Amino acid sequence: MSKLYLVTGGAGFIGSHIVQRLVKRGERVRVVDNLCTGEIERLASVLSVIDFVEEDLADPAVCDRVVDGVDYVLHQAAIPSVQRSIRDPMASNRANITATLNVLESCRTHGVRRLVYAASSSVYGDTKVLPKREDMPATPLSPYALQKFVGERYAKLYFDLYKLETVSLRYFNVFGPSQDPYSEYSAVIPKFITKLLAGEKLTIFGDGEQSRDFTYVENVVQANLLALTADGAAGKMMNLGCGTRISLNQLVKQLENILGLNAQVEYLPARAGDVRDSLADIGLAERLLGYQPRVSVEDGLARTVDWFRNHASR
Ligand code: UD1
Repeated sequence: MSKLYLVTGGAGFIGSHIVQRLVKRGERVRVVDNLCTGEIERLASVLSVIDFVEEDLADPAVCDRVVDGVDYVLHQAAIPSVQRSIRDPMASNRANITATLNVLESCRTHGVRRLVYAASSSVYGDTKVLPKREDMPATPLSPYALQKFVGERYAKLYFDLYKLETVSLRYFNVFGPSQDPYSEYSAVIPKFITKLLAGEKLTIFGDGEQSRDFTYVENVVQANLLALTADGAAGKMMNLGCGTRISLNQLVKQLENILGLNAQVEYLPARAGDVRDSLADIGLAERLLGYQPRVSVEDGLARTVDWFRNHASR
């Protein structure tokens, strides 16, 4: 029997890209998603060949059922957004910590070979030194950042205590096709692209000089697949970024160039819990996984704009 892959949060932005790649590779895939922030439409092209389960991982019985028979788990399910977690810490705690512990426990009891965990760059908070390296202390500034930190520590404990192979990838501001642009909690890139395409004004919180290591989703898919089998990666956590950063003001310029227009920008006060600068040292992922960011920010932005041009519907 071929291996079975479980993608939690497989109807989410990153999860659905992983599912599509696995299906392309000819793998057997199960997806579990409660469709809280996920959207089934993202899986339309593969729905007939995957096992899709609409359930909530905060229920341990659900975890036990969906993990049964699985070889590899890509744990992407989460309620993302720093701002959303500040507004509603209980809900994000349930999705990001309770469900993660349930998944780990089921993986342990069902003898899963390896679990890759979607950790977050937000755990670093505001470090003075850039780029951010894994040996720097975590200083979470929001419930979301703290929850993602607890998740990766649980993943590490499950390796140390129970020998469940876990690998945590600290994602740095992932972007790309099918990322939700319409929620008040949407990430900045899909939000800005759809606003620009609709001729609407952009809002920048702060002076726009805050910077991010924006990482195209295909790079993240690549790293997840490598992390499933890389020797010497079990029990480790590592940054997953592009290794370059741009400010929001630079981002707007790049989008103006790609789209051939001038943006109208309104500046509002910076948001609570917001990190100032973010840049990944990706040396560890390069060494442990053989990871290389193949798609640059510029190319990723051009591809993402193309996708939204063809798909923006509201
Ligand atoms: C954070 C994490 C990221 C995580 C994500 C989950 C850091 C450095 N990054 O992203 O790893 O995956 O949470 O949600 O902690 N902004 C505007 N105008 C807008 C929208 C956003 O100015 O309309 C600004 C934000 O204030 C922020 C920047 O753009 O300074 C990026 O925001 P966003 O895309 O929401 O992601 P982060 O909060 O950086």
